[in-house]
Amino acid sequence: MPYRTIIEPFRIHSVQAIDFPTREGREAALERAGYNLFGLHGDEVIIDLLTDSGTGAMSAEQWAGMMVGDESYAGSRSYFRFRDVIEDLTGLAEIIPTHQGRAAEKILFATVLSAGDVVPNNTHFDTTRANVEYQQAEARDLVIPEGRDPASEHPFKGNMDIAALVDTIEEVGRARVPLVMVTVTNNSGGGQPVSLANLRAVREVCDRYEIKFFLDACRFAENAWFIKQREDGYADKTPRQIAREMFSLVDGCTMSAKKDGLSNIGGFLAMNDPALAQQCRNLLILTEGFPTYGGLAGYDLEAIAQGLVEVLQEEYLEYRIRSTAYLADKVSNAGVPIVRPPGGHAVYLDAKSFLAHIPPHEYPAQALAVELYREGGVRGVEIGSVMFGTPQPDGTERPAEMELVRLAVPRRTYTQSHIDYVGEVVIAVAERADGLGGYRITEQAPWLRHFTARFEPV
Ligand code: F0G
Repeated sequence: MPYRTIIEPFRIHSVQAIDFPTREGREAALERAGYNLFGLHGDEVIIDLLTDSGTGAMSAEQWAGMMVGDESYAGSRSYFRFRDVIEDLTGLAEIIPTHQGRAAEKILFATVLSAGDVVPNNTHFDTTRANVEYQQAEARDLVIPEGRDPASEHPFKGNMDIAALVDTIEEVGRARVPLVMVTVTNNSGGGQPVSLANLRAVREVCDRYEIKFFLDACRFAENAWFIKQREDGYADKTPRQIAREMFSLVDGCTMSAKKDGLSNIGGFLAMNDPALAQQCRNLLILTEGFPTYGGLAGYDLEAIAQGLVEVLQEEYLEYRIRSTAYLADKVSNAGVPIVRPPGGHAVYLDAKSFLAHIPPHEYPAQALAVELYREGGVRGVEIGSVMFGTPQPDGTERPAEMELVRLAVPRRTYTQSHIDYVGEVVIAVAERADGLGGYRITEQAPWLRHFTARFEPV
């Protein structure tokens, strides 16, 4: 098209009103929630960028699919549609529905991991790490060095460091590495893509050592779009062809359909190995449900099947990636430090350079996230030392490598003016960054503490 503006490739068919809590109301909500934004009620938030997970708008075709959902306990027609769409997309033979991504992780890791094993990944997402550690195995993050540098403009900052992967396998021995995972896009590393060349290199290493290779495929379509834009030889391929090539390189995947499944709930575990799949299904029956529904309603399976088709449409992906970059450009042009280049599903504010006067043990990214809510009712999420700090035996804490606030953009939900507003709020907070103080934790859980911890201002 000859015009510059990339428009939303949809019309709005149904709307939900936003509440506008006052500044005093927001302050009271923060106190009640112990300065943890997970403790806010949805109605206390004006623009909710906590997550892009399950928060998107479904299409009319998805809602229509829900009306024809088959709720048979066993052998539901909706399961076969779900299975066929995923088989066609991934080429993987065994498709196991789960209620969301972490259920797929739990089942996979409980089946393949033993205590003392090591799982390399570019960067584990928090639930993935927790599910590895719950099996008393070690989750090791081996993203390339550029992926740890917020300012690096590397086009594929989610890539696995292949030399570090080989070193890890040599160091711990292949018997203790039951699988290698790569997360596309690399959520905890800034929503950064992984190239096909890198996936091929991981495949070669896994072949050499006879180790299984799984994708954490939550944002596979966004990753495919970045490959189309940035990797030599892919400009003329469709997102579907690229996604198929990505999946053709792996032995299996875990998937949260709450992201690129364009659905409000759901996920799956897929693989080629029938014996492993059988073990996984046995566990599935114990905790999730019968293998043709896996904890989902028949109508959810329909919504996901349709979502997986829509998410690969070029007009959708162009708009999706552009709308995230639009927010990134807006705040970046005003001098706010962010993880460069912008990721697919979110803009990551770099609190370490933004709030350099707040030390890591006073959680600068938490301070920034709280302030964005206080200022404008915008809810983001801390991805820093609250989420990934490691308590040490002496009572201190090893800080996370990066102190980020993620502003995740729900799919097909907010318009350009919502995003303009968010940009204004971020810039207003940035202008008075020097006056912000840190937080200390007053209560925390033994794992995934960021969901429930309580804080107080230092
Ligand atoms: N893997 C990645 C890369 C994720 O981003 C998530 C969820 C999961 C696995 C787990 O999937 O939520 O369906 O159980 N990420 C959400 C987020 C929660 O906000 O980034 P789930």
